[in-house]
Amino acid sequence: MKRMKLSISRGIPRFVFILGVLSLICILSFKFYSLKPFLILDTKHIYSTNSHLSNRPQIDILDTVIKNIEHEMTNIRDSQEESPHALRYASFLADILGLIESAKSGGPEPEVVTGSNRSQLAHISPEFFLTEEIRKYIRIKPNRLGKQNFMGANGTFTSIGHACFSMKQELEEYMNYDVGDICNDDWKLAQRLMVHGCDPLPRRRCFSRAPQLYTKPFPFPESIWSLPDDKNVRWSQYKCKNFACLAASNTSKGFFKCSDCFNLTHHENPRWVIPVYPDPASNSTPDFRITDILDLKPGEIRIGLDFSVGTGTFAARMREHNVTMVSATINLGAPFSEMMALRGIIPIYMTINQRLPFFDNTLDLIHTTRFLDGWIDFVLLDFVLYDWDRVLRPGGLLWIDSFFCLKEDLEAYLEGFKMLRYKKHKWVVVPKVDKDDDREVFFSAVLEKPPRPF
Ligand SMILES: *[C@@H]1O[C@H](CO)[C@@H](O)[C@H](O)[C@H]1NC(C)=O
Ligand SMILES: *[C@@H]1O[C@H](CO)[C@@H](O)[C@H](O)[C@H]1NC(C)=O
Ligand SMILES: *[C@@H]1O[C@H](CO)[C@@H](O)[C@H](O)[C@H]1NC(C)=O
Ligand SMILES: *[C@@H]1O[C@H](CO)[C@@H](O)[C@H](O)[C@H]1NC(C)=O
Ligand SMILES: *[C@@H]1O[C@H](CO)[C@@H](O)[C@H](O)[C@H]1NC(C)=O
Repeated sequence: MKRMKLSISRGIPRFVFILGVLSLICILSFKFYSLKPFLILDTKHIYSTNSHLSNRPQIDILDTVIKNIEHEMTNIRDSQEESPHALRYASFLADILGLIESAKSGGPEPEVVTGSNRSQLAHISPEFFLTEEIRKYIRIKPNRLGKQNFMGANGTFTSIGHACFSMKQELEEYMNYDVGDICNDDWKLAQRLMVHGCDPLPRRRCFSRAPQLYTKPFPFPESIWSLPDDKNVRWSQYKCKNFACLAASNTSKGFFKCSDCFNLTHHENPRWVIPVYPDPASNSTPDFRITDILDLKPGEIRIGLDFSVGTGTFAARMREHNVTMVSATINLGAPFSEMMALRGIIPIYMTINQRLPFFDNTLDLIHTTRFLDGWIDFVLLDFVLYDWDRVLRPGGLLWIDSFFCLKEDLEAYLEGFKMLRYKKHKWVVVPKVDKDDDREVFFSAVLEKPPRPF
């Protein structure tokens, strides 16, 4: 018993990290894919099996507990319930399951890195994977001539996400290609791996497929408000097979967030220029106009990040004001990346799992809409907000645009935002009135990062 306790407590630090990922995986998979991918997640493969538990009865008890939890999670999945309570419950169960499986396999042992022996950092062995190309990718590539390179390293240390180890089969399928050949048409598998934490991906040595006949994009600024040429996108993995279908009021387009975002003329054009009043009875709106926000800091806002679901219209409007935005996006059900690029907006293809690829105190603005909503786990929100804070410069603005959640969750979310202790330029809560219920609210704010002269 004492032994088991020991291995559990040793397992905890790394699992605190994994928990966040697990909850995200769980919530994401529930929302976007159903729970199935999560249920087959087999945490004992994350680390090479160094079984500390040799005691058969204990293992049997743990197996029973695991089976019961898995059974319960299957029930939740089959019930198709998507209330926040069901999600939180499922996420809680997923956490427990992870802990138990860690305890069962002896738990990950924290590696003590002594001195400069970097090879000990590679405690997860490349030999775990059967595909030679993955092993080749992960192995440290020492510099030629045995000297440090200009970056101060003795070699190049490529990495993959730890979740790749729990998605071994899918990763091996993804990595089954011939070097120098044309890649398989499997970006969707790649995106699935990324969303579930296997990121960055190790596939680098095949040629990506391209549209059969790429026509040159429209010149700027015409490109901003024109639906691009259909020929410039590979459509095979989408329900819609052209931009007109995506722009039409069509309910079965394969994605649900922002289903009007491809309708540039009617839906996109007025955004951030003409506010919408969700409750006609009141004159409050969660929509701020870009000009009003830029006037808070005349001439100071030059570069920023848009972390939203959309086709880049925010960045397009900002470009008209000479502000350069990059827009984080993935291709969830529609070619969002290609759409942005063809409009002349920079899409960065990344998931919320990732730490932002910007240095501390660099950006003037972060804008977010339709992304962080009532689905997001409170701990995950914390991780996200701290990272945004990191990359925002002192005096930079964080624009939370129409965040929505259930009324009863609002306080908890607002605590998350208040934690930043930013100066409030704008802060509104507006009821979200739908046809038949008023259980949700919108929250919008523009906040300024304070100086931190420490
Ligand atoms: C670094 O660690 C590896 C594995 O633990 C060991 O084989 C190697 O000899 C060590 N190298 C040095 C320079 O200590
Ligand atoms: C790099 O190699 C040199 C010897 O060539 C060694 O002294 C140094 O500790 C190594 N640095 C790292 C970070 O491994
Ligand atoms: C609506 O989407 C479906 C694909 O799910 C497509 O078959 C249909 O043609 C679309 N309708 C219009 C009007 O674009
Ligand atoms: C955009 O929406 C409007 C109104 O719903 C519709 O009349 C128009 O045809 C749509 N545009 C496209 C390109 O489908
Ligand atoms: C953007 O920059 C151009 C060129 O410097 C300038 O002519 C234009 O007035 C600027 N637009 C705005 C909205 O500041």
